[in-house]
Amino acid sequence: MPQDVHCIIGASGQLGTELAVTLHNAGEQVVLLDIKAPSLPALLELPFEKVDVRDQAALCAAFGAHHVTHVYHFAAALSARGEQEPQWAWDLNMKGLLHVLDLASSMDSIARVFWPSSIAVFGPGSGPVAAQSAFRLPSTVYGISKNVGEHWCSWYHQHRGVDVRSVRYPGLIGTLAPPGGGTTDYAVEVFDQLHGPAPYTCFLQANEKLPMMHMDDAVGAALQILSVPRAALRCNEAYNINAMSFDPQGLFAEIGRHVPGFTAEYAPDFRQDIAAGWPDALNDDMAREDWGWSPKIDLPGLVQSMMEARRIASPAR
Ligand SMILES: NC(=O)c1ccc[n+]([C@@H]2O[C@H](COP(=O)([O-])OP(=O)(O)OC[C@H]3O[C@@H](n4cnc5c(N)ncnc54)[C@H](O)[C@@H]3O)[C@@H](O)[C@H]2O)c1
Repeated sequence: MPQDVHCIIGASGQLGTELAVTLHNAGEQVVLLDIKAPSLPALLELPFEKVDVRDQAALCAAFGAHHVTHVYHFAAALSARGEQEPQWAWDLNMKGLLHVLDLASSMDSIARVFWPSSIAVFGPGSGPVAAQSAFRLPSTVYGISKNVGEHWCSWYHQHRGVDVRSVRYPGLIGTLAPPGGGTTDYAVEVFDQLHGPAPYTCFLQANEKLPMMHMDDAVGAALQILSVPRAALRCNEAYNINAMSFDPQGLFAEIGRHVPGFTAEYAPDFRQDIAAGWPDALNDDMAREDWGWSPKIDLPGLVQSMMEARRIASPAR
């Protein structure tokens, strides 16, 4: 049987970098697509093609040339940048997804597609702990694009037989690549400013609680949902998945256990308004029941992992 070929679109970004490393380390065949070349030394030996996902012919040629079987579509405008450049964000997020779904419906070689949705599909009226089928009135361009994208995934599955699977990711925190313009980026960038001369300035309020997840769990979720038989999945849109919830002051208190004297101050900007519309947590019962979702990393584990990755020595605890 020919080997699976995993194609990551948006492979040089925060999530794509982590998934590429995981798949490569597992001995899988991986093809990287992005408009930006990968920078991580471990990925330089992998096949890379500079492809703009808005160019469907180029995308089709890359899928065909590499005999792609699994597509992970990560190229997107994120929440904060999307509010500043709404036309660009809508064009990229919608055109990219439709190109991928359309090619998956016409190319027999493509067996499965993974496309991430987000907690940004929720908004006022979704409740503090958003249910799987909570009312969805997203308040950002990004959230609208993810909400509509979920409906497109369902449509392509039901009417074109595309096996596309999705989860609603919370804010993702990883070590290998910088974040790309989201509302939860503070929880990554703070780790690069722990020993700066001034206190870290956070762009969210101290008590703005949001759902968050370590990259290892995020990558694990993508691989796990793709591994189960389609018949196990009751949801054709995107599954809620939950790992931990914290606010900036909670994260900084945990960091303070490793870095005595660490201090932060708060200067909320437009991203606070975006965050205020999102739930504190998601109810992920359906994901747990259907495909065995279960996160492994909590807040202390997340901070420990970020400290180790940045080789920040912490005093004995
Ligand atoms: N990071 C998070 O906290 C988070 C949370 C929820 C959902 N998601 C979703 O996960 C996916 C990946 O997010 P990320 O954080 O890795 O984003 P990112 O911004 O870090 O990476 C996106 C990548 O896409 C590439 N790209 C941009 N335009 C492109 C184009 N026209 N053609 C090809 N590539 C292009 C960029 O160069 C970048 O490398 C996105 O769909 C995002 O909405 C992320």
